[in-house]
Amino acid sequence: MTTRSAEPAPLPRFPADFVWGASTAAYQIEGAAEEDGKGPSIWDTFVRREGAVRDGDTGDVACDHYHRFGEDVALMRALGLDAYRFSISWPRVLPTGAGKVEPRGLDFYDRLVDALLEAGIEPTPTLFHWDLPQALEDEGGWMSRETAYRFGAYAAVVAERLGDRVRRWITLNEPFVHMSFGYGFGVHAPGRALLLDALPVAHHQLLGHGLAVDAIRTAVPDAQVLIANNCSPVRLRSDAESAADHRATEAYDILHNRLFNDPLLLGSYPDLSAFGQPDPSWGGIVREGDAAVIAAPLDGLGINYYNPTWVTAPADPSGVLPFDLAEPEQAYRRTAFDWPVVPDGLTELLVGLRARYGKALPPVWITENGCSEPAGLDDRARVDYLAGHVGAIAQARSQGVDVRGYFTWSLLDNFEWAEGYRQRFGLVEVDFATQVRTPRASFAWYRDLIASQRP
Ligand code: BGC
Repeated sequence: MTTRSAEPAPLPRFPADFVWGASTAAYQIEGAAEEDGKGPSIWDTFVRREGAVRDGDTGDVACDHYHRFGEDVALMRALGLDAYRFSISWPRVLPTGAGKVEPRGLDFYDRLVDALLEAGIEPTPTLFHWDLPQALEDEGGWMSRETAYRFGAYAAVVAERLGDRVRRWITLNEPFVHMSFGYGFGVHAPGRALLLDALPVAHHQLLGHGLAVDAIRTAVPDAQVLIANNCSPVRLRSDAESAADHRATEAYDILHNRLFNDPLLLGSYPDLSAFGQPDPSWGGIVREGDAAVIAAPLDGLGINYYNPTWVTAPADPSGVLPFDLAEPEQAYRRTAFDWPVVPDGLTELLVGLRARYGKALPPVWITENGCSEPAGLDDRARVDYLAGHVGAIAQARSQGVDVRGYFTWSLLDNFEWAEGYRQRFGLVEVDFATQVRTPRASFAWYRDLIASQRP
């Protein structure tokens, strides 16, 4: 293993107990798609659909982490991570989503947790990072209320097995992205293009989250429970500031951010009239008592931040969505994914959450942040990205936002969903032909940052 060094950018000091971590997700790294009794997930199905994933890539092998986790934990130890956020594959544990538990699946996470603890790294599992058991999708997936109950039962199985060693838990990853990409536009699994008819997916995921919080707390009384929401500050262009543009940004903010944060933190959904849903019960989808389940107190709010969103009034006011997405007017640097690099958007987001939710905002954890950059080891652009965003967190902290930890996305290059293996988000380069891992300059930078923050 070679480690190239990079000049560390000067950064402010964070408190000694600030948690430095890295994130991954099961389907993106594990491989072993059919091993040890694992059932198929919606991603195993979706990747086989003609044209669904760039270059026809699949997660069948991915980083082969299922077999190589020891080597990956050694990399984490070399980085000096305090914590590692990974996700648990629901169909590895419950091949058909419910009923029979597959002990070999649970054993894998057991071994991973033990290896992490031995390396002094706190395991931080996410229970759902988009790989729904296919058997549950066949019964309606997250469009069905039943899936929420199944998720609660699955959470209990995992918490009972790992809860003697795992204290910090994350229920769902980005319910907004799963709803919109997976069920709204069909560009992710399960590939359904229901547009606004996908809204029940938001409610059922959130209900499942609330049921999982209860299941985790029952099994692990001192658990810390979080959810990881993808949030994006919404910006106007200076040439688009009419009342209609303002209404469009408000509508976008409701759909992307408030639909998921309000019920968790305030106990109620925002008004969805702009989305053709003026009825607070969404036509009977939201039932009495659900709001209290969803608003179960959280120990932390996980935020995944990549970039702001620019929005204008819709060019066609009779279209389905009450906004159009727009390009920023400023020429920001772009990542390989063509996403604008806007670190101050993270400060804006955090300060905005604090202003909106006040005392209802629990401590915040950045559960994902990172960028895809061209292949290669000398990833100065990633170092700049990360340094800028860590600095943005320091800014938000100095303005009173209680941010407790930072998990960068991602430890390894991995299967980037519909983009296959083209987009490279890793601090560690993975050669997918040989599975050789090579740390990049950003790895050395993050290692040095973490070391410099130690008391
Ligand atoms: C997801 C990750 C993904 C990353 C980069 C997030 O939306 O949680 O799984 O790889 O963004 O696209």
